[in-house]
Amino acid sequence: MTTAALILAAGRGFRAGGGLPKQWRLLAGRRVADWTLERFMQAPGIDLVALVLSPGDRAPWEEYASRPGLILAKGGADRAASVRSGLAALAGHGVDKVLIHDAARPCVRAETIAAVIAALDDHPGAAPGLAVTDALWTGEGGIVTGTRDRSRLFAAQTPQGFRYADIIAAHAAHPGGAADDVEVARAAGLDVAIVPGDPDNIKITRPEDFARAERLLGGAPMVRLGNGFDVHRFGPGDHVTLCGVKIPHERGLQGHSDADAGMHAVTDAIYGALAEGDIGRHFPPSDPQWKGAASEVFLRHAADLARDAGWRIANVDCTLICERPKIGPHSDRMRAEMARIMGIGLDAVSVKATTSERLGFAGREEGIAAMATATLVRG
Ligand code: CTP
Ligand code: MG
Repeated sequence: MTTAALILAAGRGFRAGGGLPKQWRLLAGRRVADWTLERFMQAPGIDLVALVLSPGDRAPWEEYASRPGLILAKGGADRAASVRSGLAALAGHGVDKVLIHDAARPCVRAETIAAVIAALDDHPGAAPGLAVTDALWTGEGGIVTGTRDRSRLFAAQTPQGFRYADIIAAHAAHPGGAADDVEVARAAGLDVAIVPGDPDNIKITRPEDFARAERLLGGAPMVRLGNGFDVHRFGPGDHVTLCGVKIPHERGLQGHSDADAGMHAVTDAIYGALAEGDIGRHFPPSDPQWKGAASEVFLRHAADLARDAGWRIANVDCTLICERPKIGPHSDRMRAEMARIMGIGLDAVSVKATTSERLGFAGREEGIAAMATATLVRG
């Protein structure tokens, strides 16, 4: 008994937009098609995997050509043509059962694959279907015109499994225009069993589907945590600037910029979460243009870097360590200032303070220390 998987990756993904066909775009750091392939390569009960590619997708074609155990086939003008090409490429490998699957469904689970294979022992065809649970309406011009009975309706998914010889014959006999391989099989008189579908087995179709699939696949990489720590020494002056707020004081803080230890710690926490080094790397102290610079420039740069990489700053928390000046009366203004610079909500920014019980350099009022944590989320 040889069971093959046929993965279709020859479409252009017009509805998904984004330039590159959807199967070659990254999801949590890997291409959509690679997630899908891995699911089948590792599934118990799958002996052979064939991948249907567009000959125009040269780079993936060359890469997959050298992957052991993978059969490649050229895609056709529509999905059915791609299926026929993939089925032909499996000829001569002694295939008994074949599971036909969209590369655009990278979240498919081993249980679904196993259920389809098992059902093929008793039926010539088997495919996952998700019972429709929402009420169904008809509508016209934005107005509901009727309701439909949903009790016997299913949303069709893949993999759709068939006995190999049956589905070859069914495709050869079909005039074209079928929605999927189940329709082709049924037109040839084959019974197709419904196995339980999986709500997570989504087909990436529109741009917003990428974020959902990434959430389903991503797990840990979707949250990043960074920390930051900074110290500035007291010197002559009549104010300190902390977390963007100027506070009158009998001494000032020394540093090559405005010596805002609080904002520097928050900035470094964001760089840290991005694994992007620290302020010194992006704004070298040796560069005279940053002398006396407002730290707002640094924090905005870190926040923009996070956003450009697809991350949202979920929260930051900053602790200032000093005996004086008193921070409490200024902390809400500090929160508001940093929230404004980062472009996030006030409730996502915390500023608090502690003394160090007169111990150490902060306790002796030689300088002020600050530590911060930042959480970034994606998806
Ligand atoms: N497919 C294929 N060959 C085609 C058309 C589609 O192999 N000529 C594959 C797609 O790569 C996808 C699956 O069939 O994995 C399901 O099709 P669909 O979601 O419609 O993908 P696309 O055709 O790529 O997208 P669109 O219709 O938005 O252009
Ligand atoms: Mg299509």
